[in-house]
Amino acid sequence: MCGIVAYSGPKDASKILLEGLVALEYRGYDSAGLVTTHSGIFKAVGPVAELKKKVPESVGGSTGIAHTRWATHGVPSELNAHPHEDCGKTIALVHNGIIENYQELKSALQKAGHTFSSETDTEVIAHLYESYKTAGKTPKDAFLATLRELEGTYGIALIDRAHPDVVLVACMGSPIVIGIGDGEHFIASDPSAIVRHTKKVLYLNDGEVAIVTPRECQVMTLGAKKISRAPETIEWEVEEAKKGGHAHFMLKEIMEGPEVLRTSARGRLRPEEGDVKLGGLLSITHELKRIKRITIVGCGSAYYAGLVGKYMLEEYAGIATDIDVGSEFRYRGLPLEEGAAVLAVSQSGETADTLASIREAKRRGLLTLGIVNVVGSTIARETDAGVYNHAGPEIGVASTKAFLSQLEVLALLTIFLGRQRHLSDTEAKRIAKELASIPEKVEKILKNVEPIKRAAERLKGATNALYIGRKYNMPIALEGALKLKEVSYVHAEGYGAGEMKHGPIAMIEPSFPTVAIAPRDSVYAKMISNIEEIKARKGPVIAVATEGDTEIAKKADEVIHIPETHEMLTPILSVVPLQLLAYYVGVAKGYNVDRPRNLAKSVTVE
Ligand code: M6R
Repeated sequence: MCGIVAYSGPKDASKILLEGLVALEYRGYDSAGLVTTHSGIFKAVGPVAELKKKVPESVGGSTGIAHTRWATHGVPSELNAHPHEDCGKTIALVHNGIIENYQELKSALQKAGHTFSSETDTEVIAHLYESYKTAGKTPKDAFLATLRELEGTYGIALIDRAHPDVVLVACMGSPIVIGIGDGEHFIASDPSAIVRHTKKVLYLNDGEVAIVTPRECQVMTLGAKKISRAPETIEWEVEEAKKGGHAHFMLKEIMEGPEVLRTSARGRLRPEEGDVKLGGLLSITHELKRIKRITIVGCGSAYYAGLVGKYMLEEYAGIATDIDVGSEFRYRGLPLEEGAAVLAVSQSGETADTLASIREAKRRGLLTLGIVNVVGSTIARETDAGVYNHAGPEIGVASTKAFLSQLEVLALLTIFLGRQRHLSDTEAKRIAKELASIPEKVEKILKNVEPIKRAAERLKGATNALYIGRKYNMPIALEGALKLKEVSYVHAEGYGAGEMKHGPIAMIEPSFPTVAIAPRDSVYAKMISNIEEIKARKGPVIAVATEGDTEIAKKADEVIHIPETHEMLTPILSVVPLQLLAYYVGVAKGYNVDRPRNLAKSVTVE
């Protein structure tokens, strides 16, 4: 995520930049910085308010760039905060995205004599540009040559002090919008930072570059071919713009699912080789080979993601895995075993019980690992090694996109550990290829929300609901029920469908709906039997089933279809309609789904 804002015009740039950063803070808030062509760089760790304290009333300069950071490479610190400069400090730039080949570029630049001052991938862009400028290229050519060397994703705004009214801008997989004013231009990673100034905008497409001055905005390809496109008018107001035009952050974050899945796998998943590269685990490759048992800890949705991970790791990595909620694990008399590791799953990286579990595991001398979204958070720092989600900030209290990313990272980890053990080449390729196509499949679900809305109509009047699933989708039944409870206050329980006859079936009657997650997998026939049993007792059934399954439509009252995939990956698809279902029910009941009552995004107390 991260937020970019830049300005070129007649006014005091620093004021416009600070205002823009405040509007963009929802995209990331671990550090922020700004610079104008006439100032030094100002940086601060923490929210934009911290940066404001450091920026004087009059900075000078009417061209500038600014950034609010959501760390991906390097902990949140002033050194790692943007803008970043070259050795000669003649240019500065801000960047969103991930430069995948930064290590190679950095080594080559260091050999050529460049000195780096941060741990970020971004800084290579500044030094590359510098090297082309030193070789005699114009700013435009140096910028284009730099971009052609980058692999990965970027939204970039760069200023060169030798050309004080120019901002060089580029877009590749990380959005950039240019706002057109009267004798001024505003640049941002999304319209929320500029709608207060202008509604006339030009969105850059991937592979496009813009050279922006107060009066001109020249758009071109990476090959310097001119592009002319008429600007569009945005209708959003400031608050709507932050939510990308969606009514709530929860909906925006569900809709971001495909993008998040792509980002979490980028540079890691190698479908053709049936392998996975996890940089965060490199330092402990040998210890990982010796692991005999993994205990996963997490709370709430993170625990349910871990529960899916248990099924994955046991079936495909061949590692005995158990799981506990943080609040139980920390008080368990965990026997010390050689070859045991504890894996914490946490979006925030700050959940008190999960953190306490990691500390307890360390005290007992166990290897500790993390799957964490917030870079530099306490769990990320205190675990021996781990994998970041790169899902961007999650604002909605109900976890949605982070949960998807947790499932994906657990699948990546399963392939990684499986390949160290007995997972066959063929099976690994099968899983990896399916994983690579998962974002498109999620997109397909998100394009057809009508059946989910119909299901929500059925659920909104209920006071209770049951969610059932088996094997990989048993945890998704628990997660679906939790989502519904959190945002719609309908009491819901998740159960392994096999447990129906041991109690819950007593509740079934015409006013008690069941959501049955029944993709075509190895337990499909058993799920169908459970659905029959519910129908025999006149219970309404909403089924989540595989596309093309016409049989289930004869039994269930409402069917929501998901594309076919590898059994191990079905939870990544089946949870999406359940997130939307909870969302629509919550909204239909008039609740603020982004801030459910009694809940906090990060539970930092026991
Ligand atoms: O930040 P964490 O992933 O450690 O948070 C864990 C839970 O508090 C969190 O998943 C919670 O259950 C969400 N509200 C679920 O939507």
